Amino acid sequence: MTPNVLVAYASKHGTTREVAESIAGTLREFSRLAVQIEDAALVHDISRYDLVVVGGGLYMGKWHADARHLLQRHRHELAGKRLAVFAMGPDSLEESKVAESRKQLERALAATPELEPIAVVIFGGALTPETWRFPFNRLPAFDARDWDAVHGWAEEIAAKLTPVAA
Ligand SMILES: Cc1cc2nc3c(=O)[nH]c(=O)nc-3n(C[C@H](O)[C@H](O)[C@H](O)COP(=O)(O)O)c2cc1C
Repeated sequence: MTPNVLVAYASKHGTTREVAESIAGTLREFSRLAVQIEDAALVHDISRYDLVVVGGGLYMGKWHADARHLLQRHRHELAGKRLAVFAMGPDSLEESKVAESRKQLERALAATPELEPIAVVIFGGALTPETWRFPFNRLPAFDARDWDAVHGWAEEIAAKLTPVAA
């Protein structure tokens, strides 16, 4: 049977949503999985999914609340499923910046120690200041999203779900 996948995103300004859409696209097109994509805040029933991918932006050291709440809300059911997690995002892929963001994500994941994701990753973030209010609209724009890395990660988790026959 085709595995069912949910890709849930928690995004304030859309850049995480775009990454979630890219992941969903890779899972659909290259791995032929049945994929639903949904705003994390609107996810209420995960019973039919074999794999749940949860992604969220990091803000002031914290993973987006909608991503954290999704893990909390479904912690018991998620413990029996495959879970993959991503967060974004540093303004460059400099090792120390990615490590700092990773620490922030790990802190959030520590709240649900019973969950053992099959994959956890930090992607570079992006900021379009004109979509922000003062004073954040004065910040420099950046886009550190590495689409090859996003694509590669989606293939990696798909491979864990549907092992290629020898
Ligand atoms: C006010 C502000 C605070 C941020 N804080 C963090 C942070 O603590 N850690 C991090 O890795 N990225 C941080 N970022 C970068 C965002 O996570 C990045 O822009 C991300 O792509 C935003 O996702 P969204 O567009 O889906 O909301 C911050 C960005 C802004 C504007």
